[in-house]
Amino acid sequence: MDRTEEKQGLKYFRSPKAAVAPSAVIGEGTSIWQFATILQNAKIGKNCNIGSCSEIGRGSVIGDNTRIGHGVFMPPNSKIGNEVFIGPSVTFTDDKMPRANNSTYDAQPPIVEDNASIGAGAVILPGVKIGMRALVGAGAIVTRDVPPLAVVKGNPARVME
Ligand SMILES: CC(C)(COP(=O)(O)OP(=O)(O)OC[C@H]1O[C@@H](n2cnc3c(N)ncnc32)[C@H](O)[C@@H]1OP(=O)(O)O)[C@@H](O)C(=O)NCCC(=O)NCCS
Repeated sequence: MDRTEEKQGLKYFRSPKAAVAPSAVIGEGTSIWQFATILQNAKIGKNCNIGSCSEIGRGSVIGDNTRIGHGVFMPPNSKIGNEVFIGPSVTFTDDKMPRANNSTYDAQPPIVEDNASIGAGAVILPGVKIGMRALVGAGAIVTRDVPPLAVVKGNPARVME
């Protein structure tokens, strides 16, 4: 199978083992690797990388030139900017009081602003905004908004002095 596919007039690479919803919109030059799942109405910009085994929730919007590592979980309606780096195994969450029957589901999707970076294995709690050019350390548990340009680490994540 050819590495590029035509979809809605745009050229991008999709592994034959990736699952991309027909309603998803994928920008030119983007690569989607094996076992990645792109759910309904997600919109991914140009020249992005979506790592293997990542899940991009329905209705999520990702800007241009953004890199998403292996095994990232992104809930529905996440908003991710341009030139964002998301390391492997980063988990975003959107439900503060999760229940199996969804009885308390009150979705608070994440927002990540342009040029921010998130280190490997970080967990971002519901409704958190990561500011422009901020850097989240590997393994951080981020419970509050991260200001633009801040570097945070730890559990709970705090700004590094
Ligand atoms: C957070 C980070 C940016 C800090 O880098 P730095 O400013 O150079 O900090 P240092 O390495 O000088 O460490 C300073 C202190 O913070 C600690 N520290 C560093 N990173 C940490 C982290 N992620 N979580 C907890 N503590 C951390 C160090 O142990 C050190 O503590 P000490 O002074 O008590 O010994 C960096 O360590 C990091 O986590 N980068 C992300 C890496 C990553 O996931 N990349 C993904 C691509 S694979």
